[in-house]
Amino acid sequence: MPGIVVVGAQWGDEGKGKAVDQLGDRVDYTVRYSGGNNAGHTLVVGGEKYALHLLPSGILNNSVPVIGNGVVVDLGVLFEEIEGLNARGVDTSKLLVSANAHIIAPYHQVIDKVTERFLGKRRIGTTGRGIGPAYSDKVNRLGIRVQDLFDESILRQKVEAALEQKNQLLVKIYNRAAINPKDVADKLLSFADRLRPLVADTAQVLNDALDQGAVVLFEGAQAHHLDVDHGTYPYVTSSNPIAAGACIGSGVGPRRIDRAIGIAKAYTTRVGEGPFPTELLDADGERLRADGGEFGTTTGRPRRCGWFDALVVRRAAVVNDFTDIFLTKLDVLTGWEKIPVCVAYEVNGERTDRIPMSQSDFHHAKPVYEYLDGWSEDISGARAFGDLPKTTQAYVRRLEELVGTRISGIGVGPDRAESVVIHDLL
Ligand code: GDP
Ligand code: IMO
Ligand code: MG
Repeated sequence: MPGIVVVGAQWGDEGKGKAVDQLGDRVDYTVRYSGGNNAGHTLVVGGEKYALHLLPSGILNNSVPVIGNGVVVDLGVLFEEIEGLNARGVDTSKLLVSANAHIIAPYHQVIDKVTERFLGKRRIGTTGRGIGPAYSDKVNRLGIRVQDLFDESILRQKVEAALEQKNQLLVKIYNRAAINPKDVADKLLSFADRLRPLVADTAQVLNDALDQGAVVLFEGAQAHHLDVDHGTYPYVTSSNPIAAGACIGSGVGPRRIDRAIGIAKAYTTRVGEGPFPTELLDADGERLRADGGEFGTTTGRPRRCGWFDALVVRRAAVVNDFTDIFLTKLDVLTGWEKIPVCVAYEVNGERTDRIPMSQSDFHHAKPVYEYLDGWSEDISGARAFGDLPKTTQAYVRRLEELVGTRISGIGVGPDRAESVVIHDLL
């Protein structure tokens, strides 16, 4: 089974990093295919905590980490992350970066922040990392690619072209200082020598590896409902985190992907703005946030918290054709007498068990809850499904039924070892 994709089934921070890391040494390549350093994937290995933003989580295993063409790369962050890991004894020498990946230039961050401020109440709540502006330039054919760093004259021309309009906007609309193209080009060129040995035709590398039977794991960042096409637009990121995005963002055909694993938290969280029907704005939400440590890995923002929404995860299961679900953070729900699970919405007085087609209806959706029995036992030591209390098992089985996809693994703690395996994910 060579091609496996891991995708967030909610609004991000489901525990994708841990799930990917857990597949461990049996994976030959781990590929990031979308997003950039807006992601924050936390891994805990033997009590040691690692927060990765740009590097694939497979960097902590023996696999070859790959940054695919669909990723937007902030070179400063890339080398900072590499140095940070090297200082902790992690070998990053096998890392490959696609020659076609786009660069996040310093002006993208400036524009990200200034447009958010300009949007005011209508802001997206972005991570401020320049993700949207970098993808806009890519689609607008004004982007800078990794390979451009190795042709100085082309790079300088492209930076000038990219800044021509932006400087007009910055000065005349946003009342900001213009950005000097020479400074930007010099800064980008300063990374060229360090970058050169990592750069490869990663689409070819991955197809060759798959031909030889290698196991390639595509590590999703963000999540289904943050997808620019399938998420809660405009409250989304600017890329395609869904399973299909793995093909575009790495250069492999759809038949290469044999398995799509959805990562779903046992409750729901969201960072930034946008609709969230099961959000809890009361003490229960505070309790979930405290118990789950729900503060962003990237920005430190408190995550919005709410109950599990079966419609949200079911929709992701449909569009991504999930073969399996890995349910994370089930341990966080320990200690509730009853656990509400959203099984339907009421929209304009009518009950529906599907995500409404219209975003306006989604904004008005009221959750209809089913109340499942909780448990009080510490479940972090469970390693087999049978180790879980009966009511915990019933909670898992009910979610499985509601989502319509088998739950193959369960996270019962942040550490690599703290999981229950029901069906092998490889
Ligand atoms: P990602 O962006 O999807 O990789 O998720 P994040 O790393 O942003 O957020 C998930 C957080 O939950 C991290 O702090 C993980 O260490 C932690 N985590 C992952 N799985 C589990 C689990 O099963 N139980 C608990 N308690 N924490 C978990
Ligand atoms: P991981 O991979 C949670 C959210 C931001 C904002 C919106 C757009 O750790 O799950 P952007 O900076 O991408 O333009 O912001 O998307 N967002 C995430 N939320 N987890 C993430 O990544 C996210 N990446 C982006 O909060 O609402
Ligand atoms: Mg995260």
